[in-house]
Amino acid sequence: MSDEINLSINGKHVIAKSGERLIDVAARAGDYIPRFCYHPKLSVVASCRMCLVDVEGIPKAQPACAMTVTEGMVVQTQSKKAIEAQKAIMQFLLINHPLSCPICDQGGECELQDTAMGYGEGISEFTENKRAVVSEDLGPLVATDMSLCIHCTRCVRFGKEIAGVANLGLMGRGDGSYISTYLNKGLSSELSGNMIDLCPVGALTSKPFQYKGRSWGFKQHRGVSPHDCVGSNINYHTIAKGYDHLSDVMRVLPAYHPTLNESWLSDRDRFSYEGINSKKRLLKPWVKSGEGWREVDWQEALALIVPKIEAQLKQDKSKIGVWLSSQMTLEEGYLAQRVFRKLGIDNIDHRLWENTKSQDDSLRPAAVTIQDIASFDTIVLVGSNIRYEQPIIAMAIKQANDNGTQIHTIGAVDYEPYFSYTHHPTAPQQLARQVFEMGIEAQDGGLLAGKILYVLGEEALVHPQITDIKQMIHVRCEGQDHAYLVLTPGPNSLGMMAAGCIPHQSSWLKGNSLGIGYQQMLDKKMEMMWLHQVDPMHDVSDPERAYSVLKQAFVVAVATHDSPHIRDCADIILPVAAASESPGSYVNYLGELQTFCAATRPKGEAKMGWSIYRVLGQLMSVDVMSEYETLHLEVARRYQQMKWPKVSIDRIKNPEDIDAEWMRLGLTSWVRGDMQVRHAESLQQAYPVDEKVYCGDERSESVLKPYIPSISTSTRIAPGALVYEKGFVFYGASVGVVLAGDAA
Ligand code: SF4
Ligand code: SF4
Ligand code: FES
Repeated sequence: MSDEINLSINGKHVIAKSGERLIDVAARAGDYIPRFCYHPKLSVVASCRMCLVDVEGIPKAQPACAMTVTEGMVVQTQSKKAIEAQKAIMQFLLINHPLSCPICDQGGECELQDTAMGYGEGISEFTENKRAVVSEDLGPLVATDMSLCIHCTRCVRFGKEIAGVANLGLMGRGDGSYISTYLNKGLSSELSGNMIDLCPVGALTSKPFQYKGRSWGFKQHRGVSPHDCVGSNINYHTIAKGYDHLSDVMRVLPAYHPTLNESWLSDRDRFSYEGINSKKRLLKPWVKSGEGWREVDWQEALALIVPKIEAQLKQDKSKIGVWLSSQMTLEEGYLAQRVFRKLGIDNIDHRLWENTKSQDDSLRPAAVTIQDIASFDTIVLVGSNIRYEQPIIAMAIKQANDNGTQIHTIGAVDYEPYFSYTHHPTAPQQLARQVFEMGIEAQDGGLLAGKILYVLGEEALVHPQITDIKQMIHVRCEGQDHAYLVLTPGPNSLGMMAAGCIPHQSSWLKGNSLGIGYQQMLDKKMEMMWLHQVDPMHDVSDPERAYSVLKQAFVVAVATHDSPHIRDCADIILPVAAASESPGSYVNYLGELQTFCAATRPKGEAKMGWSIYRVLGQLMSVDVMSEYETLHLEVARRYQQMKWPKVSIDRIKNPEDIDAEWMRLGLTSWVRGDMQVRHAESLQQAYPVDEKVYCGDERSESVLKPYIPSISTSTRIAPGALVYEKGFVFYGASVGVVLAGDAA
């Protein structure tokens, strides 16, 4: 039987699919029906009645959001009956609405304002006093003005249905109804900013952006979020003064992408823009001078760097190392490794999160889109705090779980995700063995049933046996319906690998190289180190050993932000443009190349990353592209033509437990993974970590000594990192124990 439905809307013949909602079908046919409570991603409550339309054969106007189309339906959205109903509802909605548009932060992008203009009356018959509602303090990210709330409950449904955290609810009855937190607490969702987009009025707005500008005063620039491997699409808004060099990024909003973030955005992606405008941005090159530092111009900085590199090349080029960030673009990564390789420097790595010496290169684009996740019967999260590591993928896992997918988590910490799951507590020393045993069990048709998706999180990525873990899962999935996701940190790990920013393979995975990787460099005495967007405390898996390597070497650090840790280790600091200040491309976890333009100019005298390597190349007589366009076209073409080789693994061995006293469980807190996000003030207030206290401090030492006897004031663990010792799990390694007891 055909599921095609024929109906008439405003006299037009329209074809729809069975089960479609009238409000959506009409919009597709070009007949927009006003709405407040309806949102295509949320359940239908039909409470606002703004979408009333005239359906032939039904005496009263009907809510189009609650009606599914039926064969032969005849609908009028602008008949006298429909228009009268819409006007009456508009009048009811405005009874208690303050109408403070000129001073309301939502003005100019308000659904109520637009709908009142399009469907309301020009006058109000209501002369009584309006109701006022006390506003809520929802924390540093979301501002409230609850007198503006029209009780559409989109925010409440988003919390329950999408974000999995029911922070808000509708209290009271009738004209005493109001939206409030149940326990007078702020929002506890890493997706809370989406409520701002969903709220059709100015009741929920962005706190960091409050009163900073009007929507019509902005220029919009499409971008890709620089924080995780999903590659959520975003829009940067800058002030449209016509002087881009004077403009700052004023806010970031989601840009719709049907297979990535749809219309959602994590708070990290939305609010991290504050870091771009931070006072800690490096505006000029700095050179170490005795005990202090002096600001210099680029010429002087480069005049100091070039002879140093030349001298070291002559002396021993194997003692030069390059640590790059997976936040670099494909263009930057490619050009950087091209310059260094042409000079004979092969010790190049961007996999700074790893704790394994194995030169594993089995990372491949995944074939599982966010929409595909719901097709799996079982999802196994291996060492993943998915909710914070990859908030958009966590959302998709929750939707799958709501539709019946079983979730299992393996690891030292029960992160208590917001979906139903079974946790299999595992000491990190035994993680690889546990994955191995689960694989056997899956083959026996045990706990893990049906089509399985394995998701490898940070606890697995920083694990010394990550190569074994990946191989076991790869073999388990090969030739089956199963699949796995390796969710690497940063927005461009796959791109950096393709561009050749690994020690043992040149760009586009063509030909071998003889360099040593980040982990091997930690064991070696290096004479010269080049860092790009790498803070030796936060951005490496082993800050203690990284410090000891860097302290003995001549270090050039290319960075966007100043940091005491960089100043501790570097000799020369070069300021680089932030992700929004430079064009570039990222390769997301699906292997998709996403290209973007610069939204603003670099701050101060910071230079775009690619142009730093162009100038360095030219000064060192290396053949480099002198135009960005040529570079971009070359890398885009080479990447598109590149074939990822098939991973071939013959057999896997039964992994042994690790004999380690204490182990690191992950990287750092979800809002501390890169320089920009670490300097985003509101995010840091929302998720505070005590920056001053880490295991280089006496205070931390005294807190942790009873649990980790080997801790000393020289031990460095980034604030926000998770470490594990004999059943105790420390979060932040700073203020002590959040989960104590035997995790195994
Ligand atoms: Fe005006 Fe909209 Fe603000 Fe209400 S919420 S005062 S209609 S801009
Ligand atoms: Fe709707 Fe906004 Fe009120 Fe929430 S706060 S119920 S989204 S109007
Ligand atoms: Fe249909 Fe609210 S949009 S009742």
